[in-house]
Amino acid sequence: MVKNNEGSNLSGHIKIVNVTKNFVNPDGEIIPTVDNVSLDIEPGDFVCLMGPSGCGKTTLLRTIAGLLQPTSGEILVDGEKVTGPGPERGLVFQDPELFQWMDIEHNVAFGLKARKIYKERKADVQKYIDLVGLKGFEKAYPHHLSGGMKQRAAFARALINQPKVLLLDEPFGALDAFTRIALQERLLEIWKTFGTTIVMVTHDIEEAVFLSTKIVVMSQRPATVREVIIDDLDRPRDRNSIEFIEMRKKIMSVLDFDILTMSDRFEKEPC
Ligand SMILES: Nc1ncnc2c1ncn2[C@@H]1O[C@H](COP(=O)(O)OP(=O)(O)OP(=O)(O)O)[C@@H](O)[C@H]1O
Ligand SMILES: [Mg+2]
Repeated sequence: MVKNNEGSNLSGHIKIVNVTKNFVNPDGEIIPTVDNVSLDIEPGDFVCLMGPSGCGKTTLLRTIAGLLQPTSGEILVDGEKVTGPGPERGLVFQDPELFQWMDIEHNVAFGLKARKIYKERKADVQKYIDLVGLKGFEKAYPHHLSGGMKQRAAFARALINQPKVLLLDEPFGALDAFTRIALQERLLEIWKTFGTTIVMVTHDIEEAVFLSTKIVVMSQRPATVREVIIDDLDRPRDRNSIEFIEMRKKIMSVLDFDILTMSDRFEKEPC
């Protein structure tokens, strides 16, 4: 395992304790979004969060990131209460959100500069660009890159901070199937190399079964934990093996419940 060269002894343990998040809409109406969620995510776990659209997955992920404060309950990372964003928690969203006015090298170096550790760690910029396979594109601007390349740059920008926790919100959702599979493989290598704890939102059942150690299926909004499924298939995983297909069926059957109740709801409240 590559050592964290800042000498950190963080392990990436995430404890979500009775987290509830309500939003208030412009009319003052309270929108319950996450309801009393508790999860214990072990160091080095690869957790996939799944559930119906609009159920509150992104809200939960943003709360772990410290971008949102829970209405009640708390989140602890390595025993420390999360009160805001921090470099030990890296974030990658579906839309890579790179700085358009900076080339890839400067995008990747951003976290080091913001933390005033660029001088000591300058050599890491090339290391992380190489790690995500973007060698030769250091001087390219985001609009020169394909969707998959931009997403890889976003990973390099997050990983250079050597986060113990990586929070991913449908990071491959906008990519074609071929690029998605290639990036899933790359993400697994990164996970194995760094031992990072990963929490990833995905709607892709196959992706969740391929990558995860645990799959958390959430209910429709307000999100509660419907089921935590241990995904302990042997690695490397064969997407065509009987075990893989069985696991996929299992996830689908838990998710199906929600699709049925969602369609009931649509009948009652036509959109
Ligand atoms: N800042 C906000 N203010 C008010 N309501 C919000 C806010 N952010 C999210 N919501 C509402 O919270 C609910 C859950 O949204 P969220 O983005 O967490 O869902 P999701 O599970 O990630 O959905 P999807 O799978 O479609 O990405 C939605 O009804 C959304 O409109
Ligand atoms: Mg979302």
